[in-house]
Amino acid sequence: MTSNDPLLQPYQLKHLTLKNRVMSTSHEPAYSEDGMPKQRYRLYHAEKAKGGMALTMTAGSAIVSRDSPAAFGNLHVYDDRIVPWLAELADACHEHDCKVMIQITHLGRRTGWNKADWLPVLSASPVREPAHRAFPKTIEDWDIERIVADYASAAQRCEAAGLDGIEFESYGHLMDGFWSPATNHRDDEFGGSLDNRLRFTNMVLDAVRAAVGDKFVVGIRMVADEDFEKGLSKAEGIEIARRLAGSGKVDFLNIIRGSIESDAALTKVIPVTGMRSSPHLDFAGEVRAATKFPTFHAARISDVATARHAIATGKLDMVGMTRAHIADPHIIKKVMEGREHEIRPCVGATYCLDRIYEGGEALCVHNAATGREAEIPHIIVKTEGPKQKIVVVGAGAGGLEIARVAAERGHKVMVLEASSQAGGQVRLATQNPRRKELIGIIDWRLAELDRLGVEIRYDTWAEKDDVLALSPDVVVVATGGLPQNPPLTSGDNLVTSSWDIMAGSVKPAENVLLYDDNGGHQGMGAAELIANAGSKLELVSPERFFAPEMGGMNHVPYIRAFQEKGVTITINTRLRSVRREGNQLIAELDSDFADGWRGERRVDQVVVEHGTLPLDDLYLALKPLSKNGGAVDYERLVSGGDIFPKRNPEGGFVLFRIGDAVASRNIHAAIYDGIRFGLRI
Ligand SMILES: Cc1cc2nc3c(=O)[nH]c(=O)nc-3n(C[C@H](O)[C@H](O)[C@H](O)COP(=O)(O)O)c2cc1C
Ligand code: SF4
Repeated sequence: MTSNDPLLQPYQLKHLTLKNRVMSTSHEPAYSEDGMPKQRYRLYHAEKAKGGMALTMTAGSAIVSRDSPAAFGNLHVYDDRIVPWLAELADACHEHDCKVMIQITHLGRRTGWNKADWLPVLSASPVREPAHRAFPKTIEDWDIERIVADYASAAQRCEAAGLDGIEFESYGHLMDGFWSPATNHRDDEFGGSLDNRLRFTNMVLDAVRAAVGDKFVVGIRMVADEDFEKGLSKAEGIEIARRLAGSGKVDFLNIIRGSIESDAALTKVIPVTGMRSSPHLDFAGEVRAATKFPTFHAARISDVATARHAIATGKLDMVGMTRAHIADPHIIKKVMEGREHEIRPCVGATYCLDRIYEGGEALCVHNAATGREAEIPHIIVKTEGPKQKIVVVGAGAGGLEIARVAAERGHKVMVLEASSQAGGQVRLATQNPRRKELIGIIDWRLAELDRLGVEIRYDTWAEKDDVLALSPDVVVVATGGLPQNPPLTSGDNLVTSSWDIMAGSVKPAENVLLYDDNGGHQGMGAAELIANAGSKLELVSPERFFAPEMGGMNHVPYIRAFQEKGVTITINTRLRSVRREGNQLIAELDSDFADGWRGERRVDQVVVEHGTLPLDDLYLALKPLSKNGGAVDYERLVSGGDIFPKRNPEGGFVLFRIGDAVASRNIHAAIYDGIRFGLRI
């Protein structure tokens, strides 16, 4: 039956029929190996193809020249060795009728000179990019010649690999560096008038067209309004879009609004949790109306309803749901099968993007299969082994995940939860109103458990005998942890935990010192609540820089709140002890750096964050009664085989613990534990 869902209608782009209107825009997940898209990269894109997507724009900023060193694992499209790898990737997606293109670029000033071959970074003019901090040299005539030629040969490699097309990256990189008055101060034929500022782009387009011919699809992901005082204006941006559309050299426009030169600016282009949904959709629609040209766009269009609206109202031809597919690569399949409500939501946590800027690979905060397709399936199949009775103690993120996976595998699962609601520390984090969307991590799992018929017993504090009375085959301790104080020489009983602030059980006082000896969201969340409550706040950290466990994108809204509320931030400083003086507290400070240095603050409240200690009483009580004594064979956990060693022949059940019930970690770690253990029982 043909559907009348606007999202599911095909789209004709030149000779290509895109089977529906949903795409993944280009993003570098840093899964490359030696700059090549090998198995991990291929499986990642193939999963989205299986999930029904019409077009996947691979790579993020694949680099055309050697002097554009990879900033975050970018593919080396300047290297001939990439052709067979891209060909395999294209074949794997084409098998599912998903078209495959690639984004190519010269990063210009958006990288570092101290990487790869240590070649100087360049740009239209020598203007430093704050995010990557390199001071670029001014591009010269011979640079322009070789880079234009590099674009052309890169495009040829992409065509030779059987890809369906390419797009140029032209926001924050070399190409648009020429467009923007903020970064182009030239007075030669590449500066000044719009014609001059577009000269490099036209040279690239001419060279690429000559190299690949007219049939190959060539598009451009372009900024059409830099949205800051010195940047490219909307009027000029739309004029560039018009000229490109009318040039006959490009086949689509993929619209960006904003600048990416700093983390703060980047969050306007790629909004994080708590920020507006689809902030630039109307603008992209304006560009489409002005150019009457195929228009693509992505920026926090995370849900199917908004994506559908974007197509139905004619704002876009293709809608990018990029992080949405990192969270759930099977969105379209679920829409087609009437299972829209089963889509795992992207909650905007932006753990994915923050990780690549910290030198890691993109991982979704709550889909541990993404990027691990070789080991962890997105679709869980029934076990061929015996169906077991599994008791999960704790309904936090990890406990709910293992319950979901075990139930999908056909086991009989029961969850016991001490409190009246599921969610544990995730629910606590959502007490910061700005981050309330994170509750999607819990709500999605609760809905899945409901669908799978898993019983959750709330308000049930499980002791050893309660668990034994259920005669389980497997007991999973997912009880999480409780907050611990940082090591203090005295005053442990005078401090307030960040949890008490988050939970609302202790109100912020007038004058507060918050000591964050963890470095992640936990301390920052409490600090944001305290600052927003109107308290005077000093945030003290022993670290060299502030909140090092949190990435640059997530850093932005916290700092915004702190600056707006006048929060003082003190780094490189430890809380040594706390003492009472009258009805106030004296926080005594010292330093790892200067022996004997001491500081003092007189405040009404000292709030501390130092991670958790596992809530492990139940685990320790059950351990001697279990078959495996709680042990896990880590070698087999990673490479295959029975992961539970037989240490106690008298034992009645298998026992293990996951998440923070083992040690203080994060949401992804708990969920990864949940699925990887769940697949092995
Ligand atoms: C891990 C990651 C890497 C990205 N790298 C690139 C990139 O190299 N080039 C690019 O044009 N956009 C990149 N993006 C931005 C995405 O293409 C997209 O514009 C952004 O995620 C907003 O869309 P969404 O809200 O649908 O995710 C990246 C995004 C993520 C999450
Ligand atoms: S980490 Fe967060 S933003 Fe990224 S895909 Fe997952 S849910 Fe979405």
